[in-house]
Amino acid sequence: MQITILGGGGFLGRKLAHRLSAEGSLGGRAITGLTLFDLAEPGTLDAPFPVRCLAGDVASAADAARAIAEGTGVVFHLAAVVSAAAEADFDLGMRVNLHGSLAVIEACRKLSAPPRVIFTSSVASFGGGQSALLPDDARQLPGNSYGAQKAAAELLLSDASRRGMLDAVSLRLPTVIVRPGRPNKAASSFFSSILREPLLGLETPLPVGEAFRVWVCSPRRAVDWLLHAASMDTGPLGIDRGVNPPGLAVSVGEMLAALTPAERALVKPVPDATVEAIVGGWPAEFAATRAKKLGFAPQEGVPAILAAFREDDLAATRAERGM
Ligand SMILES: NC(=O)c1ccc[n+]([C@@H]2O[C@H](COP(=O)([O-])OP(=O)(O)OC[C@H]3O[C@@H](n4cnc5c(N)ncnc54)[C@H](O)[C@@H]3O)[C@@H](O)[C@H]2O)c1
Repeated sequence: MQITILGGGGFLGRKLAHRLSAEGSLGGRAITGLTLFDLAEPGTLDAPFPVRCLAGDVASAADAARAIAEGTGVVFHLAAVVSAAAEADFDLGMRVNLHGSLAVIEACRKLSAPPRVIFTSSVASFGGGQSALLPDDARQLPGNSYGAQKAAAELLLSDASRRGMLDAVSLRLPTVIVRPGRPNKAASSFFSSILREPLLGLETPLPVGEAFRVWVCSPRRAVDWLLHAASMDTGPLGIDRGVNPPGLAVSVGEMLAALTPAERALVKPVPDATVEAIVGGWPAEFAATRAKKLGFAPQEGVPAILAAFREDDLAATRAERGM
């Protein structure tokens, strides 16, 4: 089976690529080749199958077609401009998040067999705010351009699935913590920073109060879900291709409680109304009943998330930041 990861040089794309190469198969079928595609050519990796690394723009029809070549059976579409960046630059968000997804659909429909497409949508495609506990059939009413672009792409991927052009599963990912490396342009970046930076011995600002609640998952669990979405039977989804995976609803205070008192003291309250306005619109909890029935594993608690970060990413983060 040939697999393509669009956004294969990014945080989750890289983790997914490493899991695929460690496992060598997907859903019991041997992987025969992997294409990693990103704006800058992703670095290669040690794998028991050939790895093709391509630079390109997902919104370019020609580049998307190069990445999704004849024979591709599974496409992980992770390429995106993230939340705060898409809010700051409307044109860029539209081009990559919406027109990029259209280019992916166009490339897929040219293949002789419809590929499975796993699209990373987001909790940001919903509204509802702090008091919301969203049922599986909640409407997507995003309060930000990123979420609107994700929701629009989901609808078009569902229709393309109905038409037999491809076979999509859109995962509305929770905020993924702990992100390694440095803070990024996502409005949700601080949810990772308040755990990662203290573990590095660094101070970090907290833009919201400790009672603020957020729907999260770990990178390990996000990759589990991506792999499950790639190999599951999509028959039970019908025309509803959007899935709210079973994340964890947690408060900032509960997250900080997983740190030692000395680490916790490094987290400094610095209210930021702009960040709070974006993340405060996202729902803090989902029922996620359908996803559990479909076999998506629930997220474990914050201590497990922190332990996974220590095992998988802390040393690499220290090295990357010259510490
Ligand atoms: N990390 C999270 O908390 C989170 C939460 C919900 C949804 N998601 C979604 O999951 C996916 C992966 O997220 P991530 O955290 O790995 O983000 P990331 O920014 O690390 O990775 C996205 C990748 O897309 C690439 N990209 C951007 N524009 C491109 C273009 N025009 N052509 C080709 N590649 C392009 C970027 O270079 C980057 O490597 C994204 O679609 C994101 O919207 C992430």
